[in-house]
Amino acid sequence: MPEVLDYQPLIISSKGFEEEPLTTVQQEILDLKKEKNAIILAHNYQVDAIQRIADYVGDSLGLSYKASEADADVILFCGVHFMAETAKIVNPDKTVILPDLEAGCSLSDSCPAEKLAAYKEANPGTYVVAYINCSAGVKALSDVICTSGNAAEIVQRIPKDKDILFVPDQNLGQWVAKQTSRKLKLWPGCCYAHVLFTVQSLEKLRAKFPGAPIVAHPECIETVRDLADEVCSTEKMLGFCKNTQSEDIIVVTESGMLNRLRREISGKNFIAGPTDTCACNDCRFMKMNTVEKMRDALKYLSPEIELKESIRQKAFVPIKRMLDWSR
Ligand code: 13P
Ligand code: SF4
Repeated sequence: MPEVLDYQPLIISSKGFEEEPLTTVQQEILDLKKEKNAIILAHNYQVDAIQRIADYVGDSLGLSYKASEADADVILFCGVHFMAETAKIVNPDKTVILPDLEAGCSLSDSCPAEKLAAYKEANPGTYVVAYINCSAGVKALSDVICTSGNAAEIVQRIPKDKDILFVPDQNLGQWVAKQTSRKLKLWPGCCYAHVLFTVQSLEKLRAKFPGAPIVAHPECIETVRDLADEVCSTEKMLGFCKNTQSEDIIVVTESGMLNRLRREISGKNFIAGPTDTCACNDCRFMKMNTVEKMRDALKYLSPEIELKESIRQKAFVPIKRMLDWSR
């Protein structure tokens, strides 16, 4: 018997949703964007005030494509460091700025390049598949990159005789291994935010919304993924939420995603997946970006992403392979 809900669930509804007028800071950003010939790319986990004025809002895969096609002098990347770094790897001649350079990622931190280099040395011939949530140094040591949107597809394309190491997310890796029936060695990393969702926290919420389907990100732990009606990347969540007959949907990922869903899908209620201690789940790194920091980044073209050219060139190879393989 699930426990009674003892908190107010976070529900973001698109019923009757209307855009707020732009604020002075948002307007300043749009003016600076023109002046600097910039493009604004934002991840689905950014706050609504950022998503509202971005040229493109998407998941890591969509953002990688947009970055590779960007026709601008400046890319203002509203996401976390590894995402902006990826934009720089594919755009060495452009200025890539991130509103807050401290916006990191626990997954990326869990796999330092030196540790991966040591593993490869001890296990020669290993084929490394790196989830895009990793540093340029790790990408430079990898054979192919994947995102949560194409991971299974990428792994399927690897020749059957390869001994594959999947870094750095063990949860995504475990999910991909199941999807593809391929044997993967898993790096022991995880997203500190997604592992906070539990079966207990979801069952408690679902008791209040019995008909609501659950859509979860593959970075969640296995028992949560098993409970979900659908497991997919943030971009694919849009398709799931559009197509389901249900008006209420429980969305088990970072809560910024609800902003994107509300803006693009009308007439539905998006209920944030809760943790055991909170009605929703924010990534502290994603939420370091603010509109004020965006404005200042554009004004001063700083903080800028800088990369050693030798690393950039090596990191470009597996990214290009991913972009080619998943077109
Ligand atoms: P997506 O691949 O769905 O964009 O997710 C990225 C991420 O950081 C999830 O925590
Ligand atoms: Fe990294 Fe998790 Fe934040 Fe995504 S949600 S950026 S995986 S810490």
